[in-house]
Amino acid sequence: LALLPNRLVGELRIKLLRKAGATIGKDVHISRGVRVIGARGLRIHDDVSIAKGVTLDARGGLQIERGALIGFDSVLLTQTHASPAINVPVHHQGTVAGPVVVGAFVWLGMRTIVLPGVVIGANTIVGAASVVTKNLPEKVVAAGTPARVIRGR
Ligand SMILES: CC(C)(COP(=O)(O)OP(=O)(O)OC[C@H]1O[C@@H](n2cnc3c(N)ncnc32)[C@H](O)[C@@H]1OP(=O)(O)O)[C@@H](O)C(=O)NCCC(=O)NCCS
Repeated sequence: LALLPNRLVGELRIKLLRKAGATIGKDVHISRGVRVIGARGLRIHDDVSIAKGVTLDARGGLQIERGALIGFDSVLLTQTHASPAINVPVHHQGTVAGPVVVGAFVWLGMRTIVLPGVVIGANTIVGAASVVTKNLPEKVVAAGTPARVIRGR
């Protein structure tokens, strides 16, 4: 597979994801090394670009709206461990899920982490290596851990 041209591998990857239950629009680019968990919950609109090494966890429902760019090595999480009890292994405590929406024309810088349940408004930019813990409005630049709005656009 490594010897095939990127474009062909990309088209094959999209075909396989659609077969696995994902909804993927036109002119979508999914790079090498992108991991998808729970393809049935994944909806990617037209003209979206997902860079190398991104993890898309769609178990809780993940929607990426048109024209968005997900920077390399980013992780979008829609399910995680529940942790109500102490003295009990976290991996025995079940899970909690929350859908994530990445708005149209959003740019997530490289290594962005988005936690379950977060909605990122259209045209917003998130700085490299940020952790997005809460919803972000549209048309802002946000950065840091936790991601905070640094200016408007
Ligand atoms: C978020 C970003 C777009 C902001 O660029 P900018 O508008 O030129 O912002 P500035 O460089 O003027 O920084 C504004 C403030 O935000 C801080 N900041 C910028 N990026 C940050 C980041 N990723 N994390 C934390 N703080 C950040 C700056 O330190 C500065 O803080 P200060 O006002 O206290 O000095 C840019 O810094 C960034 O992270 N781009 C992503 C690059 C990338 O990931 N490319 C490859 C992936 S496709």
